[in-house]
Amino acid sequence: MLITSVLRCSKVMDKTLIELVGHQTQLIVELGEYAEIVHWGKKVSGAHAGFRQALLRPVPYGRLDNDVAMTLHPELGRGVFSSPALEGHRNGQDWAPVFTIIDVEHYLNGIVIKSEDNNAGLCLKTELFIDRHDVVKTRHTLTNTKVGIYQINRFANTLPLPERANEIMTYYGRWVNEFQTVRAPLAHGGYQQENRRGRTSHEHYPALVAGSKSFGEMSGDIWGFHFAWSGNHRLRVDVKADGRRYMQAEVIYLPGEESLEKGKSISTPWLYATHSFEGLNGMSHHFHSHIREYILPRSFKEKPRPIHLNTWEGIYFDHDPEYIMSMATQSAKMGVERFIIDDGWFKGRNGDKAGLGDWFLCESKYPAGLKLVVDHVNQLGMEFGLWFEPEMINKDSDLFRAHPDWLLAVEGYEQPTGRNQYVIDLQNNDAFNYLFERLDYFLSSYNIAYIKWDMNREVVQPAHLGHAAGHNQTLRYYDLVDKIRLRHPSVEIESCAAGGGRIDFEVLKRTHRFWTSDNNDALERQTIQRGMSYFFPPEVMGCHIGASLCHSTRRRHNIEFRGLTALYGHMGIELDPVKEDQKERQGFERYINLHKKLRPLLHSGRTWRVPTDDDSHQIHAVVATDQSEAIVIISQLTMPTHSLSGCLRIPGLDEQAKYRVSVLDHPSNYDDIVNYQPPWTKLGCELSGEWCKEVGLAMPILDAESAMLIRFERLN
Ligand code: DGJ
Repeated sequence: MLITSVLRCSKVMDKTLIELVGHQTQLIVELGEYAEIVHWGKKVSGAHAGFRQALLRPVPYGRLDNDVAMTLHPELGRGVFSSPALEGHRNGQDWAPVFTIIDVEHYLNGIVIKSEDNNAGLCLKTELFIDRHDVVKTRHTLTNTKVGIYQINRFANTLPLPERANEIMTYYGRWVNEFQTVRAPLAHGGYQQENRRGRTSHEHYPALVAGSKSFGEMSGDIWGFHFAWSGNHRLRVDVKADGRRYMQAEVIYLPGEESLEKGKSISTPWLYATHSFEGLNGMSHHFHSHIREYILPRSFKEKPRPIHLNTWEGIYFDHDPEYIMSMATQSAKMGVERFIIDDGWFKGRNGDKAGLGDWFLCESKYPAGLKLVVDHVNQLGMEFGLWFEPEMINKDSDLFRAHPDWLLAVEGYEQPTGRNQYVIDLQNNDAFNYLFERLDYFLSSYNIAYIKWDMNREVVQPAHLGHAAGHNQTLRYYDLVDKIRLRHPSVEIESCAAGGGRIDFEVLKRTHRFWTSDNNDALERQTIQRGMSYFFPPEVMGCHIGASLCHSTRRRHNIEFRGLTALYGHMGIELDPVKEDQKERQGFERYINLHKKLRPLLHSGRTWRVPTDDDSHQIHAVVATDQSEAIVIISQLTMPTHSLSGCLRIPGLDEQAKYRVSVLDHPSNYDDIVNYQPPWTKLGCELSGEWCKEVGLAMPILDAESAMLIRFERLN
């Protein structure tokens, strides 16, 4: 990292202002005894003389006599009556620390602030950075510098919000219905979300958005937050009694879980945030670009994302290698590039009641070994992938019979099962090493390019040697993935937790894609994928075409709607291709080919959630970074509200350029449902980028649960 200046001020008495500048936004941080962000928003050009003067607050009657700042680390001892950033004690003492800055390192894109409280014997490091995509990241590290154990109850990251952030968008969800969003006003009190499920969870995705009233996809001031942590967490947005507001994110520590001996430190996870003054699309552009440049494992950036065939919904636990090889043969014919054997391949695994933990090939199912199948898949020109659920154990397994003490549990209590299974205590080194050895064995013995790393239950009573250990279990999970990646750097990993139960930025640093949802119903997927798209680019979103009769909703969809719904993510097929008829197979082949052709654009371009005048349809566009082309998918979710749906207006194109517009795919009954469709959908047309944005094209008429695909190619 380039250091432009290092401000070393032993006890900063006078306040210093530091500007941290992104592409379009900036942070102005005032440093004195403490750090306060005095501006986080649009970059303001020109000299700033006097601006600090302009921002000095009045002090009303009826409260403390001095102005109290909302600092990066709110402290009760300074009179901040907000949720403090740190709650802890040393046997009942040192419980109200007040830190004073002693040292600031100023980098081109950030600051590292060191503060201390010598009375309490604590040292605090605060890191705050902004990148060229306007993504801010911050975390704290606390060190105990005094004799005596310091017990930590809470330790949070805090960022301020301006008063005009008076509406929030938060997430809710569940298994097969992840990433649902909901709006609420932010006027008094605030919002709090607690996740105690031990994994990122389907229910409490660790992110939220605050913004100006009625912020939308294209407009409004937005502050988006993502807490990069895969375990228990608390997110809050508080409106103080004086109207000021802030966002706070923290790990929820279980009782007694975290304490520091002298000289030991603990860090919060990173809190990622961004400001956009161009609505939710602007926010997504910032996060997507940040993920692409800084979060995704480097070595895989250039490689096109191979099209998957995953066996789960095709055969479930019914594994016959001969048949699986015929599935592979059929997959290759359709253009699949990676073939993944899901759950059911290992010892004792004939259903979901037994076998987890026994990571040995089931010899009765695979008498001739796994190599035969892997070689067959490779000879067909496809990569081979295999499913694991390393952190889990069934009581009906040889592993549990040999090591009943490896359970993550509190002795003396019988905890409820989840999918008939329990969690392994990864803090037990023998258990950790066993899992590493088993994964390493398979990855070293077979040509495995990909692991689907699943995690199908929530964590109840996580304990190591009787002590609460939820935080550390998550850290050990990261360690296990990191160790595997270090030993097998070319292997790609998918993060799956019963679908989308473990999707967050911290997991993404060590994995390559997410299994978005166990729900392959194209209609449901539209909302789930849209919710996920606010924070994640399409290439990390596992999107599979399932069977026409969806297994999770029993709803039926034709291949066109399924194909176009899966088209823009990391595409795959989730069914048994041998059993499908010729027409369906031709359909798979068609969308596989379309995806391959469009993949370079879809996985590098800018995503736009295109506003529509009618909520019955949802429009998704991807525009090339050089604006040379764009792909637009119109999905008709329910019946259109009116018989005509106005115009399709596409943002993000080069306004000065001319584009050729053509339809690449539409429902097979497209012409039968109306007298006639807009002529441009047949003959194409040529329009300027400005026209496309401001005026648009007459919307075609589509049946509910159908979609069409349009291309814009720049002509000049
Ligand atoms: C849950 C996953 O989400 C599914 O895709 C599948 O891998 C099953 N687990 C296997 O048990």
